[in-house]
Amino acid sequence: MLEVLKELPSDSVLGLIKLFAADPNPQKIDLGVGVYKDDHGKTPVMAAVKLAEARILEAESSKTYYGSDGNSAFLDAVAPLVFGEASPMSGRVVGCQTVGGTGALQLAAKLAVTCNHQAAIWVGTPTWPNHLPLFSAAGLEIKTYEYYDAEHQKINFDGMIKALQSGRAGDVVLLHACCHNPTGADLNIDQWAEVADLIAAKGMLPLIDSAYIGLGHNLEQDVKALQLVLSRVPETMIAFSCSKNFGLYRERIGALFVVGKDGQSSSAIKSHIQYLARTVYSTPPNHGAAVVTAILTDPAFKKLWVSELVESTQRINSMRQQLASHGKVGQIDLATLGSQKGMFALLPLSVTQVNMLRDELSIYMAPSGRVNLAGLNKDNIPYLVSALAKALVP
Ligand SMILES: Cc1ncc(COP(=O)(O)O)c(C=O)c1O
Repeated sequence: MLEVLKELPSDSVLGLIKLFAADPNPQKIDLGVGVYKDDHGKTPVMAAVKLAEARILEAESSKTYYGSDGNSAFLDAVAPLVFGEASPMSGRVVGCQTVGGTGALQLAAKLAVTCNHQAAIWVGTPTWPNHLPLFSAAGLEIKTYEYYDAEHQKINFDGMIKALQSGRAGDVVLLHACCHNPTGADLNIDQWAEVADLIAAKGMLPLIDSAYIGLGHNLEQDVKALQLVLSRVPETMIAFSCSKNFGLYRERIGALFVVGKDGQSSSAIKSHIQYLARTVYSTPPNHGAAVVTAILTDPAFKKLWVSELVESTQRINSMRQQLASHGKVGQIDLATLGSQKGMFALLPLSVTQVNMLRDELSIYMAPSGRVNLAGLNKDNIPYLVSALAKALVP
C-alpha cells in the first residue's frame, strides 16, 4: 500500500541549512531559516532559560501526565503577556498549551471547522509558507488575497479590505500580530481598527498568529494591535508561540487562547479544544512550558529574560536600519525596510536572482526573497549590498 506514495519536495528553507554548512566561501551569509542569531551567527540558549532549566532539574518531583490542555501554571503565566496584567477578558478566555505556535494554529483551525464545516480562512499573501497546507489539512477552505505588493514594497491595504468585504459570517481571518512573516510590514493601528470593525460587522472570526511578540518594538507595544482587535471583535483566537521570544524552538512550546463572547461558552470551548488535542497527541510535552513558567514567575529570571529579549530586538532593529541606510540598490529600495519590524524583510528578487546570489555569491535566503535580518552583522552588510547590486544588474 505504501508504494502509492510519491516523494514530496523537501522544505525549501530547511534545505538551505545543509547547503550553507557545506559552502567553503568565508564570506557566505545565512539569511534563510527564521531563527534569531547573534553577531557571531549563533542561536544561543538564553541565560534565563539555562537558569530556569537548572532549577527545574533540581525541583521536579514527578513526570506524571497533565491534562490535554497542558500545564495550567504555564497558561496563567503567559496570559498576561497577551492580555495585559489586569485583563478585562479573563472570564472569557480559554487557554490550551500547544506544541509550538504551529500546534496552536492547528488546534484553532480544527476548532473553527468544528464550529462551521463550511468555514473558509482568509489569508493574505505572501505569508508563512506553512500556513496554507496547515489550514487546508485541518479542513478549512483557503481564500487568499494580496497583502503585500512585493514589487512596489508596500502593503495593499485597499486590496485587503476589498477581499475581506466578500467574507461570510463564520469565516476565519488570519492576521499576523506583529513582525509579519515574510514581509516585516505590519498594518498601522488605524488600519487594524478598520480590519477589526469589518471582521466584527461580518461576523467573522479572527485568528491572530503571534509568533514574534517582543521582537518588533517590545513586549507591550507588540500586543497593542492584538488587544485592539479584542476590544472590537466579540470572539477571537490567538496562537501564541514561545519559540522565538524565549529561544525555545525545538522544545515546541506555545499556547492557544480562545476568547468567547461571554464566560458561558467557556467550558464548551475548552472541552472541544481538549478533545482536539487528545485526538492528535493526547497531552503536550512539558519541558518548554516548565521553563517559560519558571522564567515568568520569578522576578529575577523574568528581568533577565526581558533584558535578553530587548538586546536581541535591538540587534535586529540595528541590522535593519544599517541595511536600510543603503537606500536604492537596483530596483530594490532598501530604505523601505527601515519602517518595518521583526526578523524578516522581503526583497523583490526573482527565483533566478535568489539562486544566483546563493550559487555564485554564497548568500542564502528563502526562494521568495525573504531574508532573516538576524543573519546580518556590521561586517557582512557591505558584502550583501554589493552582492545585491551584482544580482540586480539588468
Ligand atoms: C508566522 C509564524 N507563525 C507560526 C510559526 C510557528 O512557530 P513554532 O515554531 O512555535 O511552531 C512561525 C515559525 O516560524 C511563524 O513564522
